[in-house]
This record gives sequence, C-alpha cells and structure tokens, in this order.
Amino acid sequence: MWSIFRNSLLLLSPLIPSYLSPSTPQQFKPERQHGPYTDGGSWSEAYGRAKDITKKMTLEEKVNLTTAVIGPCQANSGGVPRLGISGLCFNDGPSGPRYTDFVTQWPSEFTAAASFDRDLIEERARRIGREFRGKGINVELGPVTGGPLGRSPYAGRNWEAFSPDPYLSSTMSFLTVKGMQESGLITCAKHYILYEQEPVCDGPLDDEGGRTGCKDVSSDVYDKTMKELYLPSFAETVRAGTGAIMCSYNKINGTAACESNDALNRILKIELGFSGFVLSDFGATHSTVSSALGGMDMELPGEHYYGKRLERAVKKGSVPESRLDDMVHRILTPWYASNQDTDYPQINYQKYDLSDSKTVNGHRFKNEHINVKADNAIYARKVAAESTVLLKNSGILPLKDIRRIGVFGTDADYPSTLSGCGPDLFCMVNSKRRYWNGTVTIGGGSGAAYADYIAAPIEAINMKARQHGIRVDHVLHDDSAHFGSMGWVAYQSEVCIVFVSLFLVEGWDREHLRLDKNGEDLIKHVESNCAGEVVVVIHAGGQVIVEDWIDLPKIGAVLFAGYPGQETGNALVDIMWGDVNPSAKLPFTMGKSHKDWPTDNIVRHMGKGSYPVSKFAEGLAIDYKWFDEHNTTPRYEFGFGLSYTSFEYSGFEIEEEWGKVKDTIQKTNERFEGRNDLYDTIYIAKVNVTNTGKVPGAEIAQLYMTFPKSEVEQPPKHLKGYGKKYLEVGQTTTIKFPLRKKDLSVWDVKKQLWTIPQGIFIFRVGNSSRSIPLKFELEVKSLH
Ligand code: NOJ
Repeated sequence: MWSIFRNSLLLLSPLIPSYLSPSTPQQFKPERQHGPYTDGGSWSEAYGRAKDITKKMTLEEKVNLTTAVIGPCQANSGGVPRLGISGLCFNDGPSGPRYTDFVTQWPSEFTAAASFDRDLIEERARRIGREFRGKGINVELGPVTGGPLGRSPYAGRNWEAFSPDPYLSSTMSFLTVKGMQESGLITCAKHYILYEQEPVCDGPLDDEGGRTGCKDVSSDVYDKTMKELYLPSFAETVRAGTGAIMCSYNKINGTAACESNDALNRILKIELGFSGFVLSDFGATHSTVSSALGGMDMELPGEHYYGKRLERAVKKGSVPESRLDDMVHRILTPWYASNQDTDYPQINYQKYDLSDSKTVNGHRFKNEHINVKADNAIYARKVAAESTVLLKNSGILPLKDIRRIGVFGTDADYPSTLSGCGPDLFCMVNSKRRYWNGTVTIGGGSGAAYADYIAAPIEAINMKARQHGIRVDHVLHDDSAHFGSMGWVAYQSEVCIVFVSLFLVEGWDREHLRLDKNGEDLIKHVESNCAGEVVVVIHAGGQVIVEDWIDLPKIGAVLFAGYPGQETGNALVDIMWGDVNPSAKLPFTMGKSHKDWPTDNIVRHMGKGSYPVSKFAEGLAIDYKWFDEHNTTPRYEFGFGLSYTSFEYSGFEIEEEWGKVKDTIQKTNERFEGRNDLYDTIYIAKVNVTNTGKVPGAEIAQLYMTFPKSEVEQPPKHLKGYGKKYLEVGQTTTIKFPLRKKDLSVWDVKKQLWTIPQGIFIFRVGNSSRSIPLKFELEVKSLH
C-alpha cells in the first residue's frame, strides 16, 4: 500500500529560498557539467575492470544494469549474462533480512545505539551481513545512517537510525558498514539526505487506512547545518566503503533529493569522493534526464524513468553516454571490489513466497529456506541486554528475595502472529491507529525484520520465576475493562511489572509524545493498587513523556528497552535479575513536555506554496544541543543511564598525539585548512574510571567539547568521544578518546572548507551529557 502511494507522489517545481541555498563553492566546479566524478578511489583495480567490461556492452545492456524491477527479491537489477554479470538482488533492511524466514530479528539501530559499544555494534553488523549473504542478497538496503538523523522526536522513522547526535551516529554508521561488508555484502547507506519526516498528507484515509493526498516535504537547510550535522554520518559510510547510497523521498532546498546535482554530484560524489552508486528510494525517482544528470545511478523498483526512457534520452543526447558509462562503472566497481563476481551465493529466497522456486524472465530462482541464523540469537540477546537503559531505580532491581510477581499489559505477551498485523508489519487495528497486538520488538515498514520466534517477556519471566520458586500472576491487557482484575493481581504482588509501548510505522509521523493505548493509565492504575513496587518496561521507538507517572511513590524502576528484537524477554530477564548489569545510555533526550522541543520541526500542513517546506531554523541545535541552548532541564538527558554499581572519574587529561588514520577504505575529498588528513588523530583525551560499587559492571564514559567563543553558531557542547569498559569491583581503568582533526573542525561557509578554530576548547568528561564533572581547557594556537 505504501509503495503504491510512494509511486504516486507528485513532481513539483523547485523553489529555493535564496537565503537558505548553499553558497556555490568555487573550488568544486566540476570540469564537465555532469560527471563522471570517480576514479574508483581505493577500488581502482575494480574500477579498471568495470571500465573494461563496460566497453564491451551495448547501450541496452548498460541501461539494463541501471534499472531494478521487482523479482524474486524486493528489487533485482538487470545483468549482462553474456559477460558473466548477474543482476543484483536488493532487500531491506537495517535490523536483519526482511521478507524471508530463518533469519534473526535484531534490535533496531536506535536500540543498539544505546549500548554505546563500538565492538558490539560492529559484531552486530558482521552477523547481519552474514545473514544477508546466506540468502544470496547482494545489496542490503541499509543501514540507516543519518536520514533521518532524529531532528524531531515526532519523526516516525527515527528508530531505524542510530541517534540524533552526529558523532554517535557517525561512529556507528562507519562500524556498521564496515562490519556488514566484511561478508562481501554491499551495503546501501540511506536515506540521503535531510529526510527528517514523512510526507504531509491532507487527503482522507483510503479503505485500507492508507494516507492520500501526500506531498514530499522540502528540507530547507543552511550549508553549515548540512555539513556539520546531517552529512557526517554519510561521510563515514563513504570512508567505510559503502558500495551504495539511497537517495531519499524529500526535496532539498526545493529540489527532489534523487535529482539534486548539489547533494549527489557536488557533495556526495565530488566532496566526499563516493565511488559507488546512488539508487533511488522506492518511488523517489521523478524524472529521467534530471535524475541522470543530477547523479542518480539506478532506479528502484520498476522501470518508470530509467529503462527504455533512459535509453531514449541517451540516444537523443540529453544524457551523455559517458554519464551512462559512469553509472555502470559505479554499479560494477563495488561488485568487483567485494568479489561478488566470483564468490557470492546465488539468490536463495523469495519475497513473501513460500514456494521452493520461482521463475522470473526465464530464470529459475531457488528458495530452500536456508537457515542463516547460526548462533545469532545468543548475540542478539546480548545486544538487547547491553542496550536496555535503566532510567530509574529505587533499589528494587535487580530482583531478589521476592515470592510474587504480577505482570501487566499486552506488551508482555506474544504477538498473535509472528508477522503481526500483516507480512509487512504495517499494523492497523482500525483505520486510524496503528497498534501492535503483542509485545513490540521492532517498528513497522522497511525497518522491520522477520522473526522466527519471539521470546515474549511473559515467557522469559515465567521461566526465570520458576527457577527461583516465584509465583507469577498476569493480566495481559491494557484496557480499563480489565482494571478490576488488574487491581486484584496488583494488590497481591510484591513486584508489579507493567509493560507499555509505542509502535511506530514507516509513513506515519507521531501526533504526540505519549504511549500507545493509554499506557499512562495502565501504569497509574497498577501503581495505585500494587502491594509492592512497580517496574515499568517501555518498548518504544522514540521519546515518550513520562511526567504523568514517573514520580508516583510506588514507581520503583523504569527500563527503556527500545525495539529489542526477537530476544526481547530473555534480555529483559538478564537485566531484571542482575545477570547483566545495565550499562546502556539514552542516545537521545527525553524532555518533560512537548514544549521542550521546537514546536515546528515537523511540518504538518501544505503551506502556501505547491509543496510543504520545513525550514531547519534550529541549525545545529537538535536534541540535547537544543535543550542546552535553551537551558531546559530534561527528564532524562542524552547519555543518561543507571547501573547497579557506581563509578568515579579522575585524572582527566588531554595530550597532543598525532596518528595516521588507518581505518579508511575510501578517502573523502573534503577540503581542510590544515596539514594532512582531516581524519588523522591529533589529540588524545584520557580519564581514569573506578568501579566504586558492590558489583562488577561496565561504564560508558563520554567526552563533550565546547568550541572556542568565536564560534557563535555552535551549541554549548558536542559529544566527541565515548568508551565502554567493564570493571570488577574496585578496579580502575583508563578510557581513551582519540580526537581527530575533523572532531575539532567547523565548516567555514565562506571558504568552503573544514577548519579548526583557534582559541580555547573546553572538554568535559563524565557519564551523561549533564553529569560531566571533570574539565580540561585546551588552547589551540595554530592551524594543524
Ligand atoms: C521505502 C523506504 O524508505 C526504504 O527505506 C526501503 O528500503 C524501501 N521502501 C524498500 O522497502
């Protein structure tokens, strides 16, 4: 339903407000008007092969490579069989292979980001990559690396991405691409760029509850905001060697993202030196010539503007054949570079289809339902536990010496079918609200992955309780019709565990920041009746306002478990019984009221022009930076999360220590007013952390930086480092934060380059964005 809607989006004429349009840099004027702009970068050998083989192709064959249609996979691009080039199989998505079976449903990116754990993120990615490979999927439509970044808490797809903080998002995007591509898979970083909300729709809902009358929003952004906030995560995916990047649905300063010469050619391909291919989001292509010249290399899915139309445009000369060659080079370069030409499994699954094989265009594709899960359930459980944030604790957790537990809420229960309310997880309970019908483990739409089972919280709690001789009563409902029985159960329970949720679905931004199904009332009702203390478990894909209930006397503990994937209940039990000491931190800010955020950063109306416009007027100040700038006290700040132990910090220092960057796969061409590489390290910050509590546990130390006073457009502070270490009781360790030149740089709009401002930088270290007791002032006197 959604993709049908997406395909029917209107093409609108661009209107660029001059004060917002990025200044045109002199330095990056391309020699020719429309590329190609690649020499393959460090994939020069693969690029050479791509160039050689392209010379042997006919025009039709070249065009065939640039056009992907629905096949056994979500989309399949054409191949050139006579030259041994198979088409590519494309499939979602960021939390595991979608549309197939015998795979793992992983915690979503936004959930895993709460681990602040680089090794864990990379290993998660590696394992997801192997699952895609096992099914013969050539290109994963993921990870989500900064579109959305998370500008607004109302955006319905934030849970698919890591964090609104560009440093956290960047580091995790880099590691995710790197980890996933290790298996030979090609990743597709998405959605490029400034895709911070869903379209505005002013038509009535259709018969299936779908939206009508929708128009894409133009994200109107200032150059500095684009470079410093929204681009860095994509730059990191280029450095990590992502083979593909998906252009997004929105417009950028009035131009459709998939035909934006500025965003695709000038910034992505020239400045960032991206040598792979740009493919369109589904239905985000609106033209043939403008898209081809604007920098889009492949259309997905279906032959709407590429295919025959592209062939005609090349024949007519409106798209130079050199540009078509460039598209083909870009598609084949990562394919050769990742050895998919010689060493990659055949496609072995079919979207939705349970049959054993399928013939498409005379070619037979197998579907052997291969089990690609390996021991990933164990690791998925670890990721989920390490990503569960303990927001409040009176001491009730970890649970000990109890005999009676009451469990409340549908969110503790099994979903009624594994694929929820439909295979696509576009859940509709009635045509107005999108509710999940059991425990929420993942959001809906293309960020969803299918689970073979769900370890529901009630299952895991029952099993654990049985081992400990604990009685478990439950009322797995949310509605007030069951409040009577809930009252009785709560009245007899020493601990009442209440499960509440917020289910988010692609295509729908949030209307408010509250829980689904009046979760607030459920919590309050159980709290008022519980014999002992209440533990609240929140499964949500974004910020929720907790003010109604958080300070009630019997609210003993609150766990924010995000979208934890199939191992949900097991991970929760690990935390609740103390087998895993919680260490996760919020990768976003939880405010006290919707008024704490800018009121207009989701556009809900068409406005006066021919399409809705969202002006990114808050500039760099999103999430905690907005709260800092406005002196607003959040309920739970970015970086906050409790542990069952305590930590102390000492010995904070920063030294100059130059280091060559070693992890880059593709170098960017970003201009830098300094010596050597923008990504080289220049300083190293160090702090000692001691476990001063009574149990072992991991701590996440965070480094925040304040730019010199001359940088008036900068928010008060920025995350510039984080490190996680496990500590035995009484143990001290040193956590190091290498600082790269880019981490200290700002984008100079006039000169169009990165530069390190001179003056005093202030660094602070601690365990949340508002608990940073140690300070270090660093004077930077010259260019580096
Ligand atoms: C639209 C989504 O925006 C994108 O992320 C996804 O890859 C495609 N649909 C295909 O499902």
